[in-house]
Amino acid sequence: MEKIIVMDFGGQYCHLITRRIRELGVFTEIISYDADLNKLIELKPKAIILSGGPSSIYDDGSPKLKKNFFKYIIENKIPVLGICYGHHLIIHQLGGKIEPHDYKEYGKTSLEIIENVTLLKSLNQDEIVWMSHGDQVTDLPEGFNTLAKTKTCPIAAFGNEGKKLYGVQFHPEVGHTSKGKIILENFIDITGCNRDWKLENWIDKAIEQIKKKVGPEKRVILGLSGGVDSSVTAMLFHKAIDDRLHSIFVNNGVLRKNEENEVQEMFRDKLGFSNFHYINAEELFLDRLKNIDDPEEKRKIIGHTFIKVFENKTIELEREYPNIKYLAQGTIYPDRVETAATSKSAAKIKSHHNLTLPDDMTLEIIEPLKDLYKDEVRQIGLKFGLPKDLIYRHPFPGPGLAVRIVGIINKERLDILREADTILIEEIKKAGIYDDLWQAFCVFLPLKTVGIMGDYRTYDYICSIRIVESLDAMTANFAKIEWDLLERIGTRIVNEVKGINRVVYDISNKPPSTIEYE
Ligand code: XMP
Repeated sequence: MEKIIVMDFGGQYCHLITRRIRELGVFTEIISYDADLNKLIELKPKAIILSGGPSSIYDDGSPKLKKNFFKYIIENKIPVLGICYGHHLIIHQLGGKIEPHDYKEYGKTSLEIIENVTLLKSLNQDEIVWMSHGDQVTDLPEGFNTLAKTKTCPIAAFGNEGKKLYGVQFHPEVGHTSKGKIILENFIDITGCNRDWKLENWIDKAIEQIKKKVGPEKRVILGLSGGVDSSVTAMLFHKAIDDRLHSIFVNNGVLRKNEENEVQEMFRDKLGFSNFHYINAEELFLDRLKNIDDPEEKRKIIGHTFIKVFENKTIELEREYPNIKYLAQGTIYPDRVETAATSKSAAKIKSHHNLTLPDDMTLEIIEPLKDLYKDEVRQIGLKFGLPKDLIYRHPFPGPGLAVRIVGIINKERLDILREADTILIEEIKKAGIYDDLWQAFCVFLPLKTVGIMGDYRTYDYICSIRIVESLDAMTANFAKIEWDLLERIGTRIVNEVKGINRVVYDISNKPPSTIEYE
């Protein structure tokens, strides 16, 4: 398969570049800037994009390309596009000059095209682009031409047409660069890649591969949570091997209201999964969580208990079906490829929701979604006819409501939270804003305050409402939703949920506050 490789220099937009190129029909993968040159060669890139990054070329230990990188790409006529830091790096390593600028240029700026070569085809003389840089290129090596400039940046784009080396100081991958998509399309034209990476082809191929790998008799187990990734994984295996897929759904006692019934109805009844195994382990989980108020301890207990329950069920199934040989997992590309910019938060999230089974379990893992992004997984889910509600559901943490109850967890608190959360989601959906939000949920605060209801004085708990907008959960802003809507939500919760007499709206952004409370 033809592919473009994105080399990661720590830029926050690395995954974005990769997704944009895929949307344009060419498969892309990320590798770290310091990967061995042989590894790069083995990937047989049709072209390479050097990402941006937070460093300055002149910083001690700033990331550089391997010594023979340029020899390899020039000899093999592999087109390269450097973005921001990548733009500096090409010039720096080929003998040009980079200089620190008096002030950092950040935000939208007007780009003036100087030379209308293929990379900048179909652009107007002036275009709006998105910049974020301190250093800039001031002198080009021989063979390179200035293609565009801005008021303060004399070489905002360069090219060496003979060697197919290009650089842009701005970010074509972000939406603020109005013709960014065209620039990336132009680069794809330069690379000569066929734009034939399509999800339909991917689905057929993935199903074929599963059939081939699993063969006509062996069986597969899968932990099905009802989230997008595990649901789409389940559908792929269901299509490929039908009832030789054993899906295990565990009720861990910290699910949202009615979730266990909805997942069962969907997979067992509607989609006809004949080997769908529902395990109600609510009591076991709640028993182990009793009196635990430390967030990390809660997470650990939930993780370990899940593995134990899952393992026991697998052993039981293996006795009945000795042909169970594989464990399917819904790992997706960002789970696996942590870019330098996302690794901090990715590492944290991962440690909680990836299922690690004990070493002595000899099941081989199959991860059919391992090269896909979330939006691609969603598209596949839609093609399989999974309901939109499931496909576009807000992220829900593995430890579930346990991290949305501050302090000790018990059935009473969970039920209160479930009722409040259901009201919130109902109102948010009714207002038509659910899809614009990253997450909306209620949090149970174990604090009692005084209230008045009718003629009675109440002494009940507080519910905090957390509604955030975000692109990737690394940063998030509280959503400035309509006061009337907030009022409706608050009034309904206090009126309808026994145990809550006060509702507060969380106006903290991330950072410094996290999205979840624990
Ligand atoms: P924080 O709270 O760190 O959350 O700002 C960032 C995103 O990650 C989700 N999250 C989790 N997901 N297991 C998960 O599967 C977890 O333990 C976990 N903790 C946080 C959170 O919902 C948000 O989208």
